[in-house]
Amino acid sequence: MTNANKLVRFGVSLDGQLLRRFDAFIGAEGYTNRSQAIAGLIRKEFVSDIFAKGGSVAGAVTMVYDHHKRKVVNKLLEIQHAHRGIIISAQHVHLDHDNCLEIVAVKGSAAKVKALADSLKSVKGVKHATLSVSGDGKQ
Ligand code: NI
Repeated sequence: MTNANKLVRFGVSLDGQLLRRFDAFIGAEGYTNRSQAIAGLIRKEFVSDIFAKGGSVAGAVTMVYDHHKRKVVNKLLEIQHAHRGIIISAQHVHLDHDNCLEIVAVKGSAAKVKALADSLKSVKGVKHATLSVSGDGKQ
């Protein structure tokens, strides 16, 4: 472990009511202690900032669609081929007779990732699509 990664203790003063709300919030989120929760929330803000400023991110586009809808599969494949530079992998799950779940893992600039997600979710026949963004691991 390098010096920069060493754990550093610091004191935080908070309004008592705010701290009680924070503890209830982080408990519901599944954090087991305040240090872990604060580090997680700081990283979350960093990822939002990187995304807003167009930095490098990793994430996934998750979508559900009815593969019977006209040309939906071809359109989704065309879009993915056009964005192959930022697509790491794709997983396709046959949910039921009609519906497919597809998870497209991505890594690249925030602008390119957002453009891909917007293109996929705008295809007619896609019922639901979300973009989940994480840092690229360097944060
Ligand atoms: Ni399918």
